[in-house]
Amino acid sequence: MKSLFAKMAMATALGLGMMSVQLPAHADTKVGLILPYTGTYAALGNAITDGFNMAIEEAGRTDEFSIVTEDTEAKPPVGLAKARKLVLQDKVDVMVGVVSSGVLGAMRDFVHQSQTPLIVANAGNNLATGENCSPYIVRVSFSNGQINRPMGTWMAENGIKTVYTLAPDYSAGHQMIESFSAAFTAAGGEIAGSEFTPFGQTKDFGPYLTNAQSSGADAIFVFYAGGGAINFVKQYGSFDIKTPLFGSGFLTSPLYVAAEGEAAIGVRASLHYIPTLDTPENKAFVDAFMAKHGTMPSEYSVQGYDAGLALMAAVDAGGTDKENIAAALPNVSYVGPRGALEIDPATNNIVQNIYVYDTVMGDDGLTQKLIDTIPSVRDDVAGCQM
Ligand code: PHB
Repeated sequence: MKSLFAKMAMATALGLGMMSVQLPAHADTKVGLILPYTGTYAALGNAITDGFNMAIEEAGRTDEFSIVTEDTEAKPPVGLAKARKLVLQDKVDVMVGVVSSGVLGAMRDFVHQSQTPLIVANAGNNLATGENCSPYIVRVSFSNGQINRPMGTWMAENGIKTVYTLAPDYSAGHQMIESFSAAFTAAGGEIAGSEFTPFGQTKDFGPYLTNAQSSGADAIFVFYAGGGAINFVKQYGSFDIKTPLFGSGFLTSPLYVAAEGEAAIGVRASLHYIPTLDTPENKAFVDAFMAKHGTMPSEYSVQGYDAGLALMAAVDAGGTDKENIAAALPNVSYVGPRGALEIDPATNNIVQNIYVYDTVMGDDGLTQKLIDTIPSVRDDVAGCQM
């Protein structure tokens, strides 16, 4: 990743002379940050924004990128309207964001037809890098299958025979549970029961938790994130459910685990990043993040950060116009806070490690204890034709 200064130095070294240097124009990459800033996923949108800004600031390149932000409210029709506004009215060169799989599904055709690159910084919708893949959609976060498949296998291999599943009733909830269940049953496990709860509306998880417990399953496996995760884990604790709780790691994200309190202790989950990874890249990132924000980073901050790094690398490799950014993004690879990562050009989905972790009480409050690493998880091509 070259700074503008480095490019100018290189141009001079190449004997081009400062007056004749053809540098990419200044501040000429217009970025649309399209994220939820209100509703159940608002904290996630803010964390992704902080991570993205941190990457650009750390590189000293704020003058090269102008940023327009839009609130999707995590609602598919609102997200599509905001994407149209960013592309048609603001004329952005690239969009970064989308938290909800539902919003990504709603935007997909417009992104593809308008040929505007979208760096997905959260939404795990499998179809966006599967049968509805596009050369304009590159994902630096995760796919719903990538997070949950390894955990299905892992739990079956670690002695859990029956599981009851719960998730919100929208595309991400269904995909996360489907991929978990397929891997768990393929490894010999059995699904004892499954329910989907109204998305963003369920305040009382009591009846669902009661059904899960009375199913007699060895474990409960869930996907909840943001406000839904906080409510779910707190109620799991207050109803004193004895069946052990497992989940997609968003359930006990460092972004909001403190709000869940002691009920989160002992929850076991899988995720593509935890801030306690013992690597030099992660330590440097955590220190810089702590110095700037006074809190530990979460997977959402890292997704924003990596979206920023990927965008800068793409601009450096290809230039600032839409076609070049889209063409360069799949070639991005580096070792970052979460470990080695690359984009699979067959799907445009990220290839990365998945970590199994427990939430435990540490000296400074709740923290993440690494239990296992499933290296370099890659999705099947699953119908993608670029
Ligand atoms: C999604 O809708 O794809 C989604 C939302 C929140 C998460 C993870 C996935 O934490």
